Amino acid sequence: MKKSIVITGGAGFIGSHVVRLFVNKYPEYNIINLDKLTYAGNLSNLKDVENKPNYKFVKLDICDFDAFYELMQKEKVTGIIHLAAESHVDRSIKDPFTFARTNVLGTLSLLQAAKLYWESLPEKYEGKRFYHISTDEVYGALEMTRPEGVEPPFSTTASSSEHHLAYGEEFFYETTKYNPHSPYSASKAGSDHFVRAFHDTYGMPTIVTNCSNNYGPYQFPEKLIPLFINNIRNKKPLPVYGKGENVRDWLFVEDHARAIDLIFHKGKIAETYNIGGFNEWKNIDLIKVVIKTTDKLLGRAENEDMNLITYVTDRLGHDARYAIDSTKLQKELGWEPSLQFEEGIEKTIRWYLDNQEWLDNITSGEYEKYYESMYKNR
Ligand code: NAD
Ligand code: TYD
Repeated sequence: MKKSIVITGGAGFIGSHVVRLFVNKYPEYNIINLDKLTYAGNLSNLKDVENKPNYKFVKLDICDFDAFYELMQKEKVTGIIHLAAESHVDRSIKDPFTFARTNVLGTLSLLQAAKLYWESLPEKYEGKRFYHISTDEVYGALEMTRPEGVEPPFSTTASSSEHHLAYGEEFFYETTKYNPHSPYSASKAGSDHFVRAFHDTYGMPTIVTNCSNNYGPYQFPEKLIPLFINNIRNKKPLPVYGKGENVRDWLFVEDHARAIDLIFHKGKIAETYNIGGFNEWKNIDLIKVVIKTTDKLLGRAENEDMNLITYVTDRLGHDARYAIDSTKLQKELGWEPSLQFEEGIEKTIRWYLDNQEWLDNITSGEYEKYYESMYKNR
């Protein structure tokens, strides 16, 4: 049977990389990009694949059960890779209901429609797959137990043998108990539980993956890295929350997309896989690298824009440290990140500087007003 795969949230940051990878790599599949096109969805992220014969875009809200059920029937959908979500922690603090609606109810709506459609077929769940993309934030926050004064070098290699470069002894494992703190992570945790419940209750072939912070081209510039690149370019303040000491574990988005491809095809049903590159950075150190590299690429004097760093009121409930252990994925499926961080961050900054029109289109109008009000309220 021809594979007909719905990728939800395909017009967003990670989703657009997954759509591009699947459309180019699998001309024999029917790839359907399903997206509501919220502020975060942008079809210009997919200009290079929009005319491919195996690609189709459908504008749809994942909460619209009837429309999705109809689409499942019409397209004879065999697989779902679910990325559509409200994804920004700061927005979830201001407006938690939207997060519960899209992330929890939207996911449940997809699950229920897939269940009804697949169970109506003679072969039922055979050859089907519901793959849910989640985040490491559902595990909560880790402590920073690294001795003071010991900093990781600029370049970290992405391998599990590099644990000593971490900011603490604990990691998030697939077995770590859920302990979400923000409305965003609570809503993602809720959706993860529903996905697993559909396997355990109805036998739906599900997979869940939990990934660390992604960076790379096409990320909406409300998230740390693209926001700061854009602000440096425009000589605007760089709002560092608290003391800038929170730690995040960064993965290049194309490496996440490759992991999703591998897991969709080779992952074991009902399993959870953690995805991350063993690449922890204190925010302030990462920010300094971004400033240095952006200044270099813009031909500005070294460190010219360090004075844009502006310490602002901390995010409410700001998680101290995230750190993913992805040994299971590396050992069982042979996945490795392909890029060293210094390569990935330079490639990313170069992309934003080469695509200023993309940035300007996105940051004009409504978003500009929203950002100014968020910043003023701090
Ligand atoms: P994003 O905000 O860039 O994109 C989300 C996409 O979902 C947008 O295209 C938006 O239009 C669409 N969408 C939102 N609500 C919708 C609805 N009701 N119906 C249909 N489409 C809707 O997000 P992202 O950063 O690409 O994240 C994608 C997924 O990966 C999310 O599920 C997120 O939780 C997860 N994730 C993200 C990261 C990260 O660092 N960005 C890390 C781990 C996991
Ligand atoms: P973000 O990109 O929002 O991702 P997440 O909250 O999902 O980890 O933020 C990454 C880190 O950067 C996080 O610790 C919050 C911090 N941050 C700032 O200091 N200033 C900012 O303007 C933003 C958006 C984030």
